[in-house]
Amino acid sequence: MEIINMTQLNETQIIQAAQILTDSIPIGWPTLQDALDEINRLMIPENTLLAAIENGIVLGWGGILPEYNGNVFELHPLAVRSDRRKQGIGRAIVAALEDEARKQGGLTIILGADDERGDGETSFANVDLYDDLPGRIRSFSPGTHQSGFYLKLGYKIIGVVPDANGIGKPDIFFGKSLRKP
Ligand SMILES: CC(C)(COP(=O)(O)OP(=O)(O)OC[C@H]1O[C@@H](n2cnc3c(N)ncnc32)[C@H](O)[C@@H]1OP(=O)(O)O)[C@@H](O)C(=O)NCCC(=O)NCCS
Repeated sequence: MEIINMTQLNETQIIQAAQILTDSIPIGWPTLQDALDEINRLMIPENTLLAAIENGIVLGWGGILPEYNGNVFELHPLAVRSDRRKQGIGRAIVAALEDEARKQGGLTIILGADDERGDGETSFANVDLYDDLPGRIRSFSPGTHQSGFYLKLGYKIIGVVPDANGIGKPDIFFGKSLRKP
């Protein structure tokens, strides 16, 4: 497996990347066309999109978008093909994106992880996040949510947006310092 800049992908590989995005996060991008539009929107020189490739096939991809004059990068989006998860591919893509953000002068990397599926997956779903948020952060439990992945990679909860996706469905902000490798 290698990780390459998505500007090097051919049309077939871009479609594979879009398919992974709509399959992985259908709430955000319900159709293949929505996912293709998102890739086109993100593919501008300021952003960096990296894909994990094996034998010419895209297995996953992610991007970093500069904010705050380049001091901060937002990790957006991130998706690994469902049949290739839990094999270290997501970790490798995130590590490559972090390296790239650091190279570009980034000090902090952030992301929003919506807890929006079903009745909510994390301990932040369906509770009053205005009540003792510090305590709730200390005892946070990810359940089956992708938050567990980011915690493993050293990300910390740095904030929440209550009801971002409807009542009881928050967006959870994670952050990590890029100041040390
Ligand atoms: C989140 C996602 C990118 C992780 O990719 P992945 O390739 O399966 O992750 P990795 O195999 O590199 O996992 C790295 C570590 O995190 C763990 N992990 C992966 N997904 C996890 C989850 N949902 N909950 C808890 N831990 C998880 C792995 O077990 C591994 O732990 P280990 O180092 O102790 O073995 C992938 O599950 C995905 O595409 N999900 C759907 C889309 C999505 O939610 N994207 C993020 C939007 S914010």
